[in-house]
Amino acid sequence: YRDTLAEPPPATDLQALARQARGCTRCDLCHIATQTVTGEGPEDAALMVVGEQPGDTEDLAGRPFVGPAGQLLDTLLAEAELPRDRLWMTNAVKHFKHVPRGKKRIHARPNMSEITQCRWWLDQERMLLKPRLTLALGATATTALTGRSAALGPRRGKVEDTANGPVLITIHPSYLLRLPDAGRAAEERARLTEDLRQAKRLAA
Ligand code: URA
Repeated sequence: YRDTLAEPPPATDLQALARQARGCTRCDLCHIATQTVTGEGPEDAALMVVGEQPGDTEDLAGRPFVGPAGQLLDTLLAEAELPRDRLWMTNAVKHFKHVPRGKKRIHARPNMSEITQCRWWLDQERMLLKPRLTLALGATATTALTGRSAALGPRRGKVEDTANGPVLITIHPSYLLRLPDAGRAAEERARLTEDLRQAKRLAA
């Protein structure tokens, strides 16, 4: 009931949508995060890139993909010859979920309820942007974009059709930062770059 009352009328452009999202109280993450991190990029972008949620750096900066995972993604995008300034970058969940550990803020994965609440924004973002292709980075983005939380492995590198257009599924760049084995990490990095090249071809 509270959500229904709080729900603003659908925005007619991406800037209005971002303004509305800054006041979002659909889930409790608004009380934990510093600010809402909304999507950014050119409004005629053919490719929309969707991550999980803002990290520590993004939460403070108010912009998506500017921390360590974002910097790695920038490197891979450059290797795939996909200029970042031509892409719409956003997240499935727009508030940073974390738990304190000493002075640090440790990333916590958004749960299904938080993903579902924030999907309200993501769906509108997709309807307004109308990208030719949406690239899902990792499990949270894949669940939010396709509505299916089945394991990523067999779906990776493939396109799934949704009401708001095709979605190409791949891993999240932060996965590479967590792999302890250098050989495995190099292999996965090459695969992710190949998925980015495929995204470029499909969005062209
Ligand atoms: N990881 C994400 O999924 N999104 C960001 O914006 C930053 C890190």
